[in-house]
Amino acid sequence: MTTMIKKCLFPAAGYGTRFLPATKATPKEMLPVLTKPLIQYGVEEALEANIRTMAIITGRGKRAIEDHFDISYELEHQIKGSTKEPLLNEIRSLISQCTFSYTRQVEMKGLGHAILTGETLIGHEPFAVILADDLCTNDKQTKSASSEGVLAQMIKIYEKYQCSIVAIEEIPKEETHKYGVISGHLVDNSNNIYRINDMVEKPHPEEAPSNLAIIGRYILTPDIFDILKETKPGKGGEIQITDALKEQAKLGKVIAYKFNGKRFDCGSVDGFVEATDYFYKKQKEK
Ligand code: G1P
Repeated sequence: MTTMIKKCLFPAAGYGTRFLPATKATPKEMLPVLTKPLIQYGVEEALEANIRTMAIITGRGKRAIEDHFDISYELEHQIKGSTKEPLLNEIRSLISQCTFSYTRQVEMKGLGHAILTGETLIGHEPFAVILADDLCTNDKQTKSASSEGVLAQMIKIYEKYQCSIVAIEEIPKEETHKYGVISGHLVDNSNNIYRINDMVEKPHPEEAPSNLAIIGRYILTPDIFDILKETKPGKGGEIQITDALKEQAKLGKVIAYKFNGKRFDCGSVDGFVEATDYFYKKQKEK
């Protein structure tokens, strides 16, 4: 079956100030968990969901991302035939299976604005969004469980509901100020699917409508672009995707999905260390 979602957008223009000085001259998306940069995990997740067209929103100082998803002839020549050559197998395979397009977000006006900047790469079709600093993994916990990645799970849901979808996770109430928080009602209990009626960007715990937080995986229908063009700056003076999605939610057109798997907040030092620890242990078990 051909998938209806063919493109994945990666907003990657942010400064990554929480990781200074590491991010002074290196894009935060290029920080490695073990030997692989964060954004490569995201691209692998998209490819696993059968998406081959990667649309990346960059900004000043982000050229290392473009170089990463390209062949380095000099390096290839140097290590050809050596024991190091297989270390490039995974990235080579990604490069041969995917196309990468880039556009720059000239001004930093928020996630909603970054997504709108991607309109030129996406066009008029539904698309996925991955925020690479939310690193997701789904390891088979039991024999019967599926090991599908989060985006692949969401695409299945899109095929049924044909509207925008956000991935959600239960968080401790005191952390609501870090996330978009939804309110909704369960429409499919066994599959953890909610229909959203309201959402708030980074509310104080006492104002949060629930403890269900949006994490960095979205499927968006293309009408979101016109909504974003009309969306006024919200929390932090930035154009928020949460505010644009709220408009779709008013029409009953946003689903929230509590995904199977694990998420690491690699936008924070704690989450980054946890992810590193997790993947290191996994590698040692092999
Ligand atoms: C963004 C979104 C927020 C979402 C979060 C997920 O915030 O604005 O709604 O919950 O990503 O990681 P950021 O983390 O970029 O501040």
